[in-house]
Amino acid sequence: MDHFLYRDGALYAEDVPVAEIAAAVGSPCYIYSTATLLRHFRLFDEALEGTEHLVCYAMKAASNQAILKTLAAAGAGMDVVSEGEYLRAKAAGVPGDKIVFSGVGKTDAEIRTALSGGIRQFNVESEPEMEVISRVAVELGTIAPITIRVNPDVDAKTHAKIATGKSENKFGIPISRAKEVYALAASLPGLDVVGIDCHIGSQLTELEPFKLAYQKVAELTEALRAEGHNIRRLDLGGGLGIPYTRSNEAPPLPVEYGQLIKDTLGYLNCEIEIEPGRLIAGNAGIMLSKVIYVKSGEDRDFLIIDGAMNDLIRPAMYEAHHDIIPVVEPAPGTEPHSYDIVGPVCETGDTFAKNREMTPLVAGDLIAFRSAGAYGAVMASEYNSRPLIPEVLVHGDQFAVIRKRPTFDEIINRDTIPEWL
Ligand code: LLP
Repeated sequence: MDHFLYRDGALYAEDVPVAEIAAAVGSPCYIYSTATLLRHFRLFDEALEGTEHLVCYAMKAASNQAILKTLAAAGAGMDVVSEGEYLRAKAAGVPGDKIVFSGVGKTDAEIRTALSGGIRQFNVESEPEMEVISRVAVELGTIAPITIRVNPDVDAKTHAKIATGKSENKFGIPISRAKEVYALAASLPGLDVVGIDCHIGSQLTELEPFKLAYQKVAELTEALRAEGHNIRRLDLGGGLGIPYTRSNEAPPLPVEYGQLIKDTLGYLNCEIEIEPGRLIAGNAGIMLSKVIYVKSGEDRDFLIIDGAMNDLIRPAMYEAHHDIIPVVEPAPGTEPHSYDIVGPVCETGDTFAKNREMTPLVAGDLIAFRSAGAYGAVMASEYNSRPLIPEVLVHGDQFAVIRKRPTFDEIINRDTIPEWL
């Protein structure tokens, strides 16, 4: 459930008509709902009730400071994957002991920043990385808490570009080599090996792959404990999918996912961490856009809109489906019309939907892309010199711009001219 609903024939974000936001901010823009963000965070938090746990929001999904502050105030930790994300989390007031650091390519500088500023744990992805963390920790005279990310070789049954738990993927160490890598970790100075980490992919719409992976993590926990390792924390990654098509999708609920965690791993009495991103932010955001032209092609009609692939790249990159709805609710009985919905960027890939049945629209009409809160604004670029679009946060009947649209001067003045020109 989210808080983008029709009321009196108009689309609202919580208690604010989205047309009002468009009038104030312009289009295109991203609009997030505070109530939906918090609801989704709490669903995970409640799903793990009774177990010592921390929900670490995977902030790569949507990392605006206002979103982070909203979630941090509700008690969320953060999963970060770069120095930039680490510093964003700190700037939003998240204490270091609630930040976990994931990613296959952490640099010396990133490790140093996190160790100096405080970190709950590094999720280590390789032996060379472990050696660097050990060296930097010794140099700083501190101890780095680590888990080791194991790759369980499980098929997550999701899009190939976002599956991470098969042996052919770059992530983690093969679970078959876990014992020797944990032995190496125990022998290195400056490290405190606190647990195991595992993340198998994103937009998972079944529980079975999680179950297979978590069973392997349970076996490994027992095996490592038998060898003397004090495994006391399990980071189970993120990945629970969301419905992108309202009509016919029903991925498992956080409560079912939480029950699976308790069933497969509860007996080990470990502290549990999870790293959900998409489920918290995805349906908490829409991208608002406006029809510029309705163009008649030979065998189809195009809706040319002011949003483009640089603003929301998921359809071009993953063939992702987003429901697209008009901001003025269609009158009952309106005959739909089929459109190809495209942006102004000079590539055929700048296509959001083909043959999409929509209520008939004209230039100037506003439309909303649903489920755009996760991996939307954060993956945007200024391709075609199109400014990054603003982000707006709604809270009840209030809204605020949380990132403004840059001016063209700001964009142009970021470039510097060498002296020979
Ligand atoms: N933890 C780790 C280590 C991850 O790599 C990811 C996502 C997450 C947690 C959060 O997963 P989530 O709960 O959001 O599924 N840009 C793609 C998604 C990439 C996901 C990358 N890793 C998309 O737009 O679908």
